[in-house]
Formats: sequence, C-alpha cells, structure tokens
Amino acid sequence: MPTDTYAPILEKAALLERFSALDAFLREHQLLWRPRPFVHYPTVPWETEHPELATWLRAQSLAHADAAHNQPHRVAAPAPFPQLAAQAHALSLIGQLPQLPEPHLPARLATAVPGRKWQQIDAFARCLNFKKRPQHWLDWCAGKGHLGRRLAHNGSALTCLEFNPQLVNSGQHLSSKLGIHAQHITQDVMADTAATQLHAAHTPVALHACGDLHVRLLHLASQHGCKQLAVAPCCYNRIQHTHYQALSSRAQRSALHLSIDDLGLPLSETVTAGARERRQRDCSMARRLAFDLLQRQVRGTDEYLPTPSLPAAWLDRPFAEYCNRLAALKQLPHLGTQDWQQLEQRGWQRLAQVRNLELLRNLFRRPLELWLLLDRALFLQEQGYEVRLGTFCTVEQSPRNMLLLAERT
Ligand SMILES: C[S@@+](CC[C@H](N)C(=O)[O-])C[C@H]1O[C@@H](n2cnc3c(N)ncnc32)[C@H](O)[C@@H]1O
Repeated sequence: MPTDTYAPILEKAALLERFSALDAFLREHQLLWRPRPFVHYPTVPWETEHPELATWLRAQSLAHADAAHNQPHRVAAPAPFPQLAAQAHALSLIGQLPQLPEPHLPARLATAVPGRKWQQIDAFARCLNFKKRPQHWLDWCAGKGHLGRRLAHNGSALTCLEFNPQLVNSGQHLSSKLGIHAQHITQDVMADTAATQLHAAHTPVALHACGDLHVRLLHLASQHGCKQLAVAPCCYNRIQHTHYQALSSRAQRSALHLSIDDLGLPLSETVTAGARERRQRDCSMARRLAFDLLQRQVRGTDEYLPTPSLPAAWLDRPFAEYCNRLAALKQLPHLGTQDWQQLEQRGWQRLAQVRNLELLRNLFRRPLELWLLLDRALFLQEQGYEVRLGTFCTVEQSPRNMLLLAERT
C-alpha cells in the first residue's frame, strides 16, 4: 500500500467513504482488471478498446515489466494508464499507525525468529496502543507464537492457538525457555471447538492468518465480547467458498462479486523473491505459456487449459520432455514432432508481453486489497467496535502491511 507521511489512517466515517469510492472505481473498470493476461491468447479482451496502450505494453521487455512490477503507477504508458494509475494511487493512500516508543526488550526474545519476521512482529506490536491495557493475549494461528511472546514479555497472560502440533511443541518449548507463561494449544480454528477457546477477557491478535482463518476470528471475537483485537490479514483467496462472502452489510449490497481468481490479485505483488527464485519462476511461466500454445493447437480449441503446479525438477528436463510429460498428465493426444527450440522461445516472448500487459491489472491490486480490508473494518464497526486502519510496517518488510485495530468500550 502506498503510505504517505501525510496520509491519514482510516477511521470513523472515512472507512465507509473510502470503501464507496473504491467500490465505484473497481466496478467501473472491472473489464480491465478481471481478465488475467496469462490465460488469454492471442489478446486480452480490453485490447480492442485501448489499442495504443496494448501495443505499447506488448513492445516492452521482460526487464521493463520486472522493474515496473512493484510501482506500476510510475509507468509512462499511453492513456488511459496514467489517469487510472493516479486514481488508483490516490484511492490506496493510507497513513501509518502511530507507534509506541521502542520498549526495552530482552535480546533473547528475537533470537529464534528470522530477521524480517521479527521486524514485522515488532512493528505490529508497537502499533497496539489500546485505550485499555490488555491482560490476556490470544495469538490466533500463532505458528510458534513469536508475536504472542513479544506482546506478553512484560508478564501478561498468553494463549497461542495453532493447528500444526510441531509448531505448538516448538512454541511451548521456546516460551518455557524464555520464562514466559504461555499456553500453546493445538487447535483447528475452523473447528466448532475453537469457539470455546475465546473469552471476553482475551485480546486476540492475528498476524498473517489466511482468508477464512482471520474472518473466523472477526466473527468469534465479536460474538464472545472481546473488547479489543488486532488483525493483519493475508491470502484473501484461501477460502472454502467458490466466491468471496462479503462481511459488512455495505459490501454485501455491492454489485462487485469476487471470484477466487480475483481475490488472488492483491497477492501478486512480489517483494521477497531472490534472483534465483525469480529466474526459476520466469522459466516455469515461459514454459507454461509455450505449452499453452501447443495445447491449443493439439486440442484444436482456443481455450486456456489449467495445469497443476509442478515440481521444480521438471524445469531441469529438456523442454520437449517437459511438454510430453505435461501432455500425458493432462491426457492430451501425442504431441508429435515440434520445433521445440522455437516453441520455447515463443514462450519467453509471450512471457514478456503477459508481464507487461499485467501492469494494467496491477494498478488495481492495492485498491482491491483496501476494499477487502475495509469490508472487514466496516463489519467490525457494525459489531460496535471503533476501528482504525493503517499500515504497521513497510512494504519491503511485508507487502501485507495493513493492520486493523478494533476496540469496543
Ligand atoms: C502465515 S502463518 C502465520 C503464523 C504467525 N502468525 C506469524 O506471523 O508468524 C499461518 C499459520 O496458521 C496456521 N494455520 C493454518 N490453518 C490453521 C487452522 N485451521 N487452525 C489453526 N492454525 C492454522 C499455520 O500452521 C501457520 O502457522
């Protein structure tokens, strides 16, 4: 999310105001951000309406797309790109939540935590300036409970819920070693029994609990009378339903209906991949795009054929073998003799075009994420909470850097 030193955090009436503006913007331009260039061939539907923009984007290199990926609003492309970029940027502006002064923490608290994870945890914790001092933290989908320990190091009670028993055991071990009185419980938060773990005296916190998992917390915490909670969501597309289930009455009334694919858009921002990882991802995508050309020819149909994610070792195989194996997996007819080298080359060309065409879609990544966060904020408001929404860490520390703070007096 673009954070501006002068941009305010969102609260009170501004939550609904911004939601309505984003809702209108996203609805108006759905034809630009819904279609995924990866699955459309030879053209993406919006190209007929904006031929100059399409030609310009298609002429750019893969390196251009990579450089522009995290800052699509800076791309000097033909209309309507700059106008949309300016609108998207303005609608996504959000201030940083005020931070508590740096506390004096025992150094050993951070020793078992990877560096970037610790930065996220510390930044999250420093934003929790609730009016009433929390007595009992509940770390929701806690992993090893690093966040909970950072919050409870001053002696408050801590319960950590997590469904992976290995993480529960490691977490309990770490808490005991650090002298923190924590209860690490193996619990599937989606199970009916999860409701019994929540009490009014708890202050639940959830850092990067995926889709349904944090939504479940919002429901249970408000039902069980929790006075305050803090949630930084992620993976909006990890849901059981086939479509997004809006939470607030305002979003339920919206004509914007989101598929799982749509919900993946905010997650397409990559800030963490290293050079090797990026090369591997590019190679995998170029091969998929080349295979897509082939499968359209073999099946005699101009339709994208979804393929499963494949082990990285497949990329070490010659391209012909890759295609033949994938064709067998998808039960396609025999591929016969092909100019494999030329086909693979076409995959790379297509990758450069797809990535550049995606820059238009990427303009809507942040507006859509903020729309989703505001739906959660409005839901909590309807449940009687005062809600503040802002960033808690930098995008470089985590692209999922938005935090919802809710308190009920
Ligand atoms: C992205 S991690 C976040 C962990 C921790 N909050 C942090 O920021 O380090 C999500 C965690 O949710 C846990 N999880 C996934 N599904 C769950 C479920 N149904 N019930 C409880 N925990 C779950 C995973 O095992 C994982 O530890």
